[in-house]
Amino acid sequence: MLVVYDSKTGNTEEMAKAVGEGIREAETEAEVKKASDTSLEDLEKADGIILGSPTHFGTMSENMKKLISESVGIRGRLEGKVGAAFTSSGAISGGNETTLISLLQAMLIHGMMVMGDPIKVGGHYGVVAIEKPDKEALEACRALGSRVGRLAAKIAAR
Ligand SMILES: Cc1cc2nc3c(=O)[nH]c(=O)nc-3n(C[C@H](O)[C@H](O)[C@H](O)COP(=O)(O)O)c2cc1C
Repeated sequence: MLVVYDSKTGNTEEMAKAVGEGIREAETEAEVKKASDTSLEDLEKADGIILGSPTHFGTMSENMKKLISESVGIRGRLEGKVGAAFTSSGAISGGNETTLISLLQAMLIHGMMVMGDPIKVGGHYGVVAIEKPDKEALEACRALGSRVGRLAAKIAAR
């Protein structure tokens, strides 16, 4: 499993690390990488990809968008992989849902299967933290990692 994130001030990075922990709790391998350090090959070789971005003007950050735009070069090769999303925003109604949707949308366009977050109220489309993730948000990140990790492992074993 690959967790790709961007983060300017560390909030989304903390979430990414917790998602990675959750994946490992599900006894699945996890790599956690910044979008600017992630290659198209990294995306291609992962069984599942979880994307996390800070909310920037109600959508994903520039660095995350750059990687997504470059991934047009491997169009068709991410098909059938499992995915999910998380974000940190400054305000409760500050565009975090539209940011999650922008991440899920990119994965859907690649033909991936995306999981939402049925657990945390307010984060239906993935996990949301307001600024620095609190205990509850980190727990939701770990739970997301475990659920997606387990599903990706099941699909890969077929
Ligand atoms: C360029 C920029 C745009 C932002 N736009 C929004 C926004 O639209 N809505 C919001 O709630 N917060 C916005 N924020 C605040 C960040 O989403 C918030 O501080 C987040 O916790 C930062 O995560 P990070 O520490 O991973 O960078 C913006 C921050 C920056 C730097």
